Parts: sequence; structure tokens; C-alpha cells
Amino acid sequence: MADDVVTMEKIVSLCKRRGFIFPSSEIYGGVGSTYDYGHYGVLLKTNVKNEWWRAMLQDRDDVVALDSAIIQHPRVWEASGHLAGFTDPLVDCRTCKKRFRADHLDQLECGRKPSKHPGEHSECDLTEARDFNLMFETTVGPVKEAGATVYLRPETAQGIFINFKNVLQFSRRKPPFGIAQIGKSFRNEITPGNFVFRTREFEQMEMEFFVPPDEAQRWFEHWLHERERWYVELGIRPDHLRLRAHAQDELSHYSSGTSDVEYLFPIGWSELEGIANRGDFDLTQHARHANEKLEYVDTATRDRYVPHVIEPAAGADRATLAFLVDAYDEEQVEGETRTLLRLHPKLAPVKVAVMPLVRKDGQPEVAREIYADLRRRMQAEYDEGGSIGKRYRRQDEIGTPWGVTVDHQTLEDRTVTLRDRDTLEQVRLPIEEVGDELERRLRAPWTTPKLAAA
Ligand code: GAP
Repeated sequence: MADDVVTMEKIVSLCKRRGFIFPSSEIYGGVGSTYDYGHYGVLLKTNVKNEWWRAMLQDRDDVVALDSAIIQHPRVWEASGHLAGFTDPLVDCRTCKKRFRADHLDQLECGRKPSKHPGEHSECDLTEARDFNLMFETTVGPVKEAGATVYLRPETAQGIFINFKNVLQFSRRKPPFGIAQIGKSFRNEITPGNFVFRTREFEQMEMEFFVPPDEAQRWFEHWLHERERWYVELGIRPDHLRLRAHAQDELSHYSSGTSDVEYLFPIGWSELEGIANRGDFDLTQHARHANEKLEYVDTATRDRYVPHVIEPAAGADRATLAFLVDAYDEEQVEGETRTLLRLHPKLAPVKVAVMPLVRKDGQPEVAREIYADLRRRMQAEYDEGGSIGKRYRRQDEIGTPWGVTVDHQTLEDRTVTLRDRDTLEQVRLPIEEVGDELERRLRAPWTTPKLAAA
């Protein structure tokens, strides 16, 4: 494996410099581990989510979409087990007054001496661990009264289970079929951190796949490989991805088997997505708590059963971070360091930048014409400020795969140069061919040049 130049600090700095992601509420001093997405961050994360939808909905015909509410009936969380068991072990330090996740002490910094872990410094005075529920509580209605307490959902999955019957009726599906949803989830994490890897407000991309019980294992394996393949197809280096099965004592209360897709982040191998076999836990729990029949009845055979569920559960922010980390590169070009994001063109926030070489001689007018044509076909940007070298560097840093430059020759023969972000190769072609050529390149399979360099 080649040495990777990327660090979390470089990603944080590039994201801020280029307006992808930056600390939230900065003018008020920020709120810990909360981030806002700027223009390029929104475009990138939207592309990640769209690729997920494409893989779930367009590339197959056994999954339907859902968008359920964030605030659900509080009994949902009683049935799901979150009220009783969605906890992390918390310890306080009586000396520095900081709070830590008891099971992450070896990754955390002591409040007094950051080079040590909590509990290692002579002045540390840690309490016994106690369970801390991660759900955010709020109240519905104008009065804080008994029965008004509700929770911000800590996962999108439960919105799917409680709609199982609706979807079964309206979509006329039979197992095996899935329900997919993307949306915000909230967890009052004790120790958020590592940029957008772990935050208190984040977006999940979850799909619950309902199957006949005797097919559960087969579908579990199917989804493990499908989900790993998705990341590879979108350019993540296979040697930076792995599947890791959970040990028995790591399994969530609902799971009879879970494997994580892990990515080699600068902080080490960490979970990108979990694929769980949830059995009939959720449908059975909701059936009992809501006194509803949540089962599938085969109209032909009159067979009835509670489907088992295979769940690929990914994080949109964490996936976006992984794509950024994997894409980050630096290389020496003519004695200067070129920083670039080698993002898969499908994920790149901007596909093409159109630039006049100089801001005179009719070049901006022609460049604007080309831009007007290209933006109807893909996300394009018109860029005329600063030297051409500076503009290329800016586009490299936001990961724009192609640059179209209008120069003096364009005015003579209506040809432009097309620059490739990764190879730096420039070809000349007629203006009329640029749109088709870019669409052809966008559709073509792509692998990261970082693999060839390894
Ligand atoms: N429904 C199952 C479930 O929620 P999870 O492993 O807790 O499983 C799924 O979450 C994914 O959501 C994770 O793999 C991760 O990508 C993302 N995720 C979870 N907690 C997160 C947090 N605090 N910040 C950012 N992403 C998070």
C-alpha cells in the first residue's frame, strides 16, 4: 500500500478553505462537533445520496422509497428498545470536570494532560461508569406536561418498521422487498469528534430488506457484498475497505449477526456502514406494542409469517468524509505541490469548469456560450477570476474532473482545450463536441489513479 499523504487536519483545512464543510455557529464561537455544509459540500453529499438512491431504486426493482417523520410516537422507542437500552457508558472526571465514553478511554485525551488518556494522569479522578441514554428529548405542544415528551429519532430505521403495513398495502410488494430512506438522525454522543465522522446530528441512508425467514442468511451475504461493491464502484480503493464481522458481545440488542464495512480513515480502520440481520425483532416488537398484525400473508397459499430483516445502514456524512479522504492527493508539478481531490467524476461537485484564458479579446463571451450549453447537461462552473494557473488549482482542490479553456485559437477555429484533472492531459477539440465528450467520460467506468501509484 502506498504511503498516503492525507491526514484529518488536511481534510478539515481543505473543507474550510474551499467551503465544503465548516464549524457551525462560528460567529457565536461554535457548538462543539456541529458542522455546516457549504456549496461544494452540499453538491458532494447530494451526489453521494443520489448514488445511494440510484443503487437502491433505479438499479433494482425490489426496493421502494420512504420519507418518515423525525418526531414519532414516543412508544416507538419503547418498542424498539431505545428507551431502555440505547445507552453508552459515561464517566466523569471530578478533577477536570470533563465527560468521557468509558469504552473509548484509550482513544481520548485527558482534560489536564492531552498526551495521556483519561485515568492515566496522577490527578485524574474518574467516577464509576453509568449508562447515559443518547436520545435527544424534547416536548410537543406549548406546555411541558406528562405525556408531552418526544424524542428526535436516533435512527431512520424505526420509521420504516412502523410503516411496514402501509408500504405492503400501497406498493403491492411481497418479500423479498426493501424500504429505503435517507434522513437526519440525532444522537447525544458523549464524545463526538474526528470532524464529521461522529457528530450529534447526521444523515443516515438506511434500507430495511424484508425476507422470508429461511432466506435471511442468503440476503445478508448479498447485501454485504453489494454495499462493499458500491464504495468500490464510486472510486474507494479496495485495499482501504474491509468487511469485519461483529463479535458476539458487540452485537446490538436486535441483531443476530452484523458486519461492518470499514474504511481505513487517517484515524485507523473505522465503521463506514453496518449490515445487520435484525431477524423479526422489530416487526414483532411493534406488533406487540401497537397491537397490530405486522406480517406477510400470501394470498395464494394463505401462508403467513413475520418477515426477517436485513439492514444495510450507512451514514451520508461519514461516506462523504471517506470519499474526501480517499480522493485527497498531493503531487509535485513543475516544482510546486499540486493539491487535488481525485473524486469519482459522478461524485465531483462540479463536473466541468469553463474558463477564458484571458478576460478580453472576446474570449469571455465564447466561454460563457459554452458554459450556458454545458450547464444544461451537467453541473458546470464559469471561472474567469485570477491567473489560469490559480483557477486550475482551485478547480483541482474542489475535485473538478475537467476544465475547458477558451484561448486565442478558439476565436480562429472554434476549438478549445479539454484538461483532465488526474492526468493533466490537454486535448483540443471542436466546441460542438465538448458536451458529448464530457457525457461519454462521465458514463465511463473510473478507477482512481492512486491505485496505479500504489
Ligand atoms: N439502524 C441501525 C443503525 O443506526 P448504526 O451503526 O448505529 O446503525 C449506521 O448507524 C451508520 O450511521 C453508521 O455506520 C455511520 O455511518 C452512521 N452514524 C452513526 N452514528 C453516527 C454519528 N454520531 N455521526 C455520524 N454518523 C453516524
